[in-house]
Amino acid sequence: MYKKLFPKVRPRRLRQNGTIRNLVSDTTISRSKLIQPLFVSDTINSKQEISSMPGQFLYSSEDILNEIESLKDCGINTVALFPNINTEVKDPLSKEALNENNFMCQLVQRIKEEFPDTMLVLDVALDPYNSNGHDGIVIDGKIDNDVTLDALKKMSINLANAGADILAPSDMMDGRIGVIREELEKHNHKDTILLSYAAKYSSNFYGPFRDAVGSAQSEGINKDTYQMDYRNINESFKEIQLDINEGADIVMVKPALAYLDIISKLKCKFDVPIFAYQVSGEYAMLKMGIDKNYFGNNVVPETLISLFRAGSSSVLTYFAKWVAENYDNISN
Ligand code: PBG
Repeated sequence: MYKKLFPKVRPRRLRQNGTIRNLVSDTTISRSKLIQPLFVSDTINSKQEISSMPGQFLYSSEDILNEIESLKDCGINTVALFPNINTEVKDPLSKEALNENNFMCQLVQRIKEEFPDTMLVLDVALDPYNSNGHDGIVIDGKIDNDVTLDALKKMSINLANAGADILAPSDMMDGRIGVIREELEKHNHKDTILLSYAAKYSSNFYGPFRDAVGSAQSEGINKDTYQMDYRNINESFKEIQLDINEGADIVMVKPALAYLDIISKLKCKFDVPIFAYQVSGEYAMLKMGIDKNYFGNNVVPETLISLFRAGSSSVLTYFAKWVAENYDNISN
C-alpha cells in the first residue's frame, strides 16, 4: 500500500532537520514535569555518594538545602524526600515515625521556611524507621494491615503539620488513602495533596534505594504480600479505582520503564493525573551503561519521553537535575 504512494509520500521530509522535527514532535520534556528524589541522613555531616547509585548522594540536613537551591536554579521545583535513619532509633513498631518532632518533621519545617515555593513530597511508609525494613508493622511474622494504618495516620498528620505539600503513601496497605484523607480533613489539612503509590509493583528494581535508605535486610526483603504482583494488569485498575474513591488526587505507577503498558492503560481508563517513578534500579542500570560508554547520555531523555508518551503527567526521576541541565530539547 505504501509502495504505491511513493514518491508522493516521503516520511523523511518531516525528519530533515531539527526545526521541522521539533515542529512535528508529539512529546516534550519540561522541567516543570520532573520531580527529583533526594536522600537525607540524620547522622552524616557532609554528603556521601551512594555506591549503588553513582552520581546520587545521601545528603546531610545542611547539604540538602544547598541542593534544593541548586535544583531551583535549574527549574526543578518539586522534590521527594527520603530519610536514612540511624539504626539505633529503629524498632519493630517504627515508633520514631510517629514522633511529631522527628528528624523529617524538623527538616520539612526548615526547608519550607527557606524555600516556601518548592513543593515537598513526603513518603508515608514505615520502612525507614522499621528495624526489619518492612513498610508495615510485623506481628507474628505477618505485616498487620490495620495496626499499620494507625501508624500511617499519625505519621501523615505530623508531616502535614510540618509543612509537607504532598503526602505519598508508598506502603500499599489496604485502605490507607481513606484513613489518611479522613484524618487530614479532621485536622483541617484540606489542601494536602495525596499522591498514592497506587500501582506499586513488588519489583527487583528497588535494590539501590534500599541501600540508600538503609532498609535492606541482609537476607533480602520480600514485600510480595503487600506490593503488587508484576504479572497482573487488572489488579492495577482495582487499586487505582479504590484509591480515587478513597480520596487520592494523583496516582503513581512504579517502577516505570517495565510498566509502560500499565501507564498507558490507566491513562485511557481514569481521569486523574498519573505520575511514573523511574526507580533506583532503573537509574543504576542506565547510569552504568552511560558510564561504560555502552550508550550515550541521550538514553535518559529517550526513557523519559517514553513515560510521557505513555501518558504520565509527571515523572519522579533521579535524572531530573541532570536532564534539566543537559538535555537540549527541554522546555520550562
Ligand atoms: C518504600 C519505598 C521504596 C521506594 C520508594 N518508597 C522501596 C520499597 O518499596 O522497598 C523505591 C524507590 C526506588 O527504588 O527508587 N516505602
